[in-house]
Amino acid sequence: MNILVTGANGQLGNEMRIVTRGSKDKYIFTDVIQVEGLETTILDITDIEAIRAIVRENDVKAIVNCAAYTNVDAAESNQELAELLNAKAPENLAKAMKEVGGLLVHISTDYVFGKEPYNTPCREDQKGTPTGVYGLTKLHGEQNILASGCDYIIIRTAWLYSEFGKNFVKTMLNLTATKPELKVVFDQVGTPTYAYDLAQAIVTILANPKTGIYHYSNEGVCSWFDFTKMIAEFSGQTNCNIQPCHSEEFPSPVKRPSFSVLDKTKIKETFKLEIPYWTDSLKKCIKNLSENK
Ligand SMILES: NC(=O)c1ccc[n+]([C@@H]2O[C@H](COP(=O)([O-])OP(=O)(O)OC[C@H]3O[C@@H](n4cnc5c(N)ncnc54)[C@H](OP(=O)(O)O)[C@@H]3O)[C@@H](O)[C@H]2O)c1
Repeated sequence: MNILVTGANGQLGNEMRIVTRGSKDKYIFTDVIQVEGLETTILDITDIEAIRAIVRENDVKAIVNCAAYTNVDAAESNQELAELLNAKAPENLAKAMKEVGGLLVHISTDYVFGKEPYNTPCREDQKGTPTGVYGLTKLHGEQNILASGCDYIIIRTAWLYSEFGKNFVKTMLNLTATKPELKVVFDQVGTPTYAYDLAQAIVTILANPKTGIYHYSNEGVCSWFDFTKMIAEFSGQTNCNIQPCHSEEFPSPVKRPSFSVLDKTKIKETFKLEIPYWTDSLKKCIKNLSENK
């Protein structure tokens, strides 16, 4: 099968490149720009004719959409662009797959939830209540895919990190190594997800897809404060005094969900997935980062 990956220069896209090495399927990795050292076909997913052309020319039977507008703060003042990338572009991909009877695997977010004060893990059929523009535009993307009538798998994930690009783990590795003190919020609770684990799950799902919305993060629950404590511990940074604080102490253009833990029962049962515990995966990522220094 020929499978197209969008946003292949991002965190998840790079992990898709790694986990599909040696695959029997043909993967075509695309993004908006070329990056040195990465084989990338240029594709702007806001351009439906460009999508149709690449699908036709390569006989694409599935698309894995790893592209998005992912800057949660900046989305608040760039709603039009966020809507274009997170809602209109997935609709383009869905239409292109509908036209050829193909499958769209689309990645969404735990931030489609959060306005309601939940305290139990969010399920797939729970109503979306985003707290900001990013979550709202991602929710619109899901709705557009459902309305297109294409075969789809929507995977909502959370707190993604990897060895690639900018992410919380890399930021905190730097801060805990250089600052004597650090305050980190403990009133936002969720689950980190190692993009490598998610990429592996996507490959498993592609082998035997069943249309629907699914939730995937690593196992377990923590706050950003707990996450930072573990990042410091696993990287051997003992000199930084890390303290919990409230979200109000960090003025932000967007209110983030206080609880967005995802219930993963459905994805585990449907695809017989074993999901790693979050600290086990974090350890692996930090080890990889330190070895590739
Ligand atoms: N990061 C998280 O914490 C998180 C949490 C939950 C869900 N998610 C979801 O998980 C998915 C993957 O996230 P990620 O962190 O891997 O994202 P990422 O690192 O920001 O990568 C996104 C990629 O999409 C590219 N892109 C931007 N505009 C495009 C366009 N018009 N056409 C094609 N590609 C375009 C970006 O290029 P440029 O960098 O050059 O713009 C980038 O390479 C996204 O759907 C995201 O919403 C992420």
